Amino acid sequence: MSQTAPDPVQELFAFLRFASISTDADYKKPTRECAEWLTAELTAAGLAAELHPTPGHPVVVARNQHRAGRRTVMIYGHYDVQPVDPVELWTSPPFEPVEKDGVIYARGSTDNKGQILAHILGVAETIREEGDVPVNLIILVEGEEEVGSVHLEEFLVKHRETLKCDVVAVSDTGMVAPGVPTFSYGLRGVASMDVLVKGPAMDLHSGIYGGAVANPATAIAQLVASLHDENGHVRVEKFYDDVAPVEDWEREAWKTLPMTDADLKKLTGVKSLFGEAGYTNMERTTARPTAEVNGIGGGYQGQGSKTVVPSKAFAKLTFRLVPNQNPAVILDRVEAHLRKHCPPGVELELPRGHSGDWYLTDPNSKDGLAAQRALQQTFGGKPALIREGGSIPIVQTFKKVLGVETLLLGLALPDCRAHSPNENFPVANLLAGIRLNRALLRELAKA
Ligand code: BES
Ligand code: ZN
Repeated sequence: MSQTAPDPVQELFAFLRFASISTDADYKKPTRECAEWLTAELTAAGLAAELHPTPGHPVVVARNQHRAGRRTVMIYGHYDVQPVDPVELWTSPPFEPVEKDGVIYARGSTDNKGQILAHILGVAETIREEGDVPVNLIILVEGEEEVGSVHLEEFLVKHRETLKCDVVAVSDTGMVAPGVPTFSYGLRGVASMDVLVKGPAMDLHSGIYGGAVANPATAIAQLVASLHDENGHVRVEKFYDDVAPVEDWEREAWKTLPMTDADLKKLTGVKSLFGEAGYTNMERTTARPTAEVNGIGGGYQGQGSKTVVPSKAFAKLTFRLVPNQNPAVILDRVEAHLRKHCPPGVELELPRGHSGDWYLTDPNSKDGLAAQRALQQTFGGKPALIREGGSIPIVQTFKKVLGVETLLLGLALPDCRAHSPNENFPVANLLAGIRLNRALLRELAKA
């Protein structure tokens, strides 16, 4: 069966035109349509593809004909994307992809549509040229990664038998620099909690009542300020108790990475860096836990001034976690800390959001080495071995439910702007990803 090859860039453009924002109920329809498009794309690649509804967004699963005696590889990715706000900072509309100087701009271009599509196109190419891929293949693409993969664990448990595999491969992480093959052997976990402070029943005239009631905005500022000391250490009691130290070989490996403080300043647009005293930036962003304020608000936000004591205020917190921290235990400790530091006169509510586990695997396992060979064949040069600061909670769930390790072969560049305005993905990385998929399946078949 020989069909003409589709143009990878046009394929990606079609994928990117769906506004598959998983967190926003207003986008349920384009998210569903994106899953339908993906099912058709996988079918066109020569696989048996199915769209599985869930209580949230659908899961798409595709497979080739499985044969006894071959290894089974699952490739995982996600078709959902982050919201686009602040939309006014985009130089072109987020769901109208454009290519400029070899770089594709659109929401989801790097995280994760470009990266998962590279694998799908790699598989399609192999099937066109060779009739089949050299392994029993399962491609699983979900629509809820950006909201904590809320329904995927249940799906994995339910379909445990048909999703049985030897190893999972994921391209949803980064490369340390353009052209530098990167194998990630770790991910941070994440735990989230909102802080809601309630004061008076309504916004009050601050002249009439100010002084006699506690101000919720002041309280939220005090609570947020209580989280860190001046050296960037998290002050929550026992926060660091379970943190595993970085191993010597890791510290050595990270010393040679092509990422300097100057690079980091340039990428982030800060004049000076700041982080936990006593650690390198690589350690701070991948091997140390953090407490982050993702949002804070309350009271008057309009023009000019308005003299009120707000009735409530909030902060949205997430904690990035590392081996061997446990999300629920950390949130218990955070809750105890916040209750202890809450000033008098306000009420505190601490609803918990999604959380996910960290992940650590052996980069020199048999499949880890196969993945490193595939990276080397694709990009040339020895792969950089890193841990990632971001989270893909389902990776630990793969281990828990399916009993398998996950190989993280990232294709995102440091300046791809995942989750930010003007997210982008180089055409070169899309094409490299197609070659990487072919090399990876070849190497995993042999491993
Ligand atoms: N692709 C990212 C995760 C990532 C980014 C890993 C960079 C390593 C390097 C993924 O789509 C993501 O954003 N995950 C969320 C998970 C959260 C919503 C549970 C994250 O890390 O914030
Ligand atoms: Zn993401």
